[in-house]
This record gives sequence, structure tokens and C-alpha cells, in this order.
Amino acid sequence: MMNRFPLFSLEGQVAVVTGGGRGIGRAIAEAMAAHGATVVLCGRTSQTLDSAVDAIRQADGRATALQMDVTEEADVLRVRDRVLAELGRIDILVNNAGIDPHYAAMEKTSTEAWNQIIEVNLTGVFNCCRLLGESMIAQRAGTIINVSSIAGHIGLKRQVPYCASKGGVEQLTKSLAYDWADHGIRVNAIAYGFVGTDLTAEMASHPHIGPRLISRIPLGRFGTTDEVAGAAIFLASPAASYVTGHSLLVDGGWTAT
Ligand SMILES: NC(=O)c1ccc[n+]([C@@H]2O[C@H](COP(=O)([O-])OP(=O)(O)OC[C@H]3O[C@@H](n4cnc5c(N)ncnc54)[C@H](OP(=O)(O)O)[C@@H]3O)[C@@H](O)[C@H]2O)c1
Repeated sequence: MMNRFPLFSLEGQVAVVTGGGRGIGRAIAEAMAAHGATVVLCGRTSQTLDSAVDAIRQADGRATALQMDVTEEADVLRVRDRVLAELGRIDILVNNAGIDPHYAAMEKTSTEAWNQIIEVNLTGVFNCCRLLGESMIAQRAGTIINVSSIAGHIGLKRQVPYCASKGGVEQLTKSLAYDWADHGIRVNAIAYGFVGTDLTAEMASHPHIGPRLISRIPLGRFGTTDEVAGAAIFLASPAASYVTGHSLLVDGGWTAT
């Protein structure tokens, strides 16, 4: 039977994935390449980016690596110019780069810690949307996926800056979806729960914190990077052509309880 619904194909699309060298970003980049996109993986560390690109190419996907710190406007502009010169367009932007280095009570949270997290997790998303999104405005099409967290929906203990940064990403997503709908650009977020990556490794292996977190998750385990990447395929694909300003919770049921 002929498929009238090639809903999840990203064939012919150019996708930029920040933080694409490891963790969730790498899985999203691999999944997008497997669905036909040409993927540009960005991050600070060339070694991890190169190894992710190798894996995609070995699986017959199209990928390239470009170094970029999302907090540096000059880096973002350099990436934009390279991608436009070499690939001609940016159809999909996945703002995945993020950090969560400090667990401390509010009274022990330094201004430096606050600034560091806000700068990467929120200002980094602002930089990439604004500077890479310009090319989407020019082509009157595009889709942006901001990687958020349940921390953007609920409070987590000892994580005020991280929760504030992800709450900001949630609101940036809604407001930008409204702003750029006129330009044919969709903007959505994915709010992940706990996924097994470098970011969560310490918590997961902690003798008390790991089991306590798992006991809060209705599905009874952390997610894997491969299984959570599909949400980004959905939001980037024609299957989500009428979805914008949405935050898709992929959290094993955490926020349902
Ligand atoms: N894992 C979870 O349970 C979970 C849950 C909810 C939300 N999230 C969100 O998912 C995203 C990915 O997290 P993850 O768990 O995959 O973390 P991860 O394994 O620690 O990877 C973080 C990625 O972000 C990149 N990055 C960090 N700072 C950057 C900067 N200034 N410029 C460019 N790239 C930067 C890192 O690359 P370099 O080190 O090479 O720069 C790395 O590729 C984050 O936004 C995180 O907040 C994760």
C-alpha cells in the first residue's frame, strides 16, 4: 500500500543540534540522520563531536561537526555562516546544550553559579534562536526544538538556578512560537525527566538519591537517550506541522503523579 503519510521523514532537511557530541543531543542527532536529515553537530569539545559524526557516517547518515560555545555570539554567527555557505539552509534547530553542575540550597548558591547556569541554559538558547533563526525567517520556514526539563514545570530541591533556567526556556518557547508563527516557524520544547547521561550519572549512582528518584518515576527507571530521541523526530517532522508553542513531557510519568 502506498504511504500517504510520510509523517516522520526529515529527508532533505538540514538540522543543527547543539550539544550534539554526547548524551541526549547525540541521540537526537543520530535519530535525525537516520530519518534523512543532514545534521550539524555543535558543542565545545571536538573529540566527542567527531566521534558522534563518525558513528552517523558509519550508519550511512550525513553529518558534520562544528565547534561552538552557545554562550559566545561570535561562535554562533560563525556556525550560521558556515552552515549557510556549505548546506544552504537551516531547517531544524535543536537547542539541547545544557548544564546542571550545582546542587545546593538557595542560601548556598553563589551568584557565579546562578550566572553560569542561566548563561548556558537560557541565554544560549536565546543566542541560537535569534542568530540561527534569522535564516529561517529569510526562508519563511523552519522548526526549533528547545530541550527543557520537568524542572521547567515543577520545582526540584536544591536546583533553583537550573529550574529557573528551564522555566525561562519554557516561556521563551511559547513567546517565540507566537512571534515567529507569522514567519512559518514552529517552536516547541521537550521537557525531559531523568535520562541516563553524564549529567545524571552522579545522582543515578548515589546510594540514596538514585533509588529515591526512581521511586518517584511511575515507569520505575531512568529513560535511555535512544528512547527519548523520538520526541524530537516527532516535533521536527511533518507529523507535528500543526504543533507549536508546546512543551512535550517525556518523563516516565513523573509529572503525572
Ligand atoms: N539527562 C537528563 O536527565 C535531562 C533531563 C532533563 C533535561 N535535560 C537537558 O537535556 C540537555 C542535554 O543533557 P544531557 O543529559 O545529554 O547532558 P550531557 O550528557 O552532560 O551533555 C551536555 C551537552 O551540552 C553541551 N554543552 C554544555 N555547555 C555547552 C556550551 N556552553 N556550548 C555548547 N555546548 C555545550 C556539551 O558539550 P561540550 O561539553 O562538548 O560542550 C554536551 O554535548 C540539557 O539541556 C539538559 O538540561 C537532561
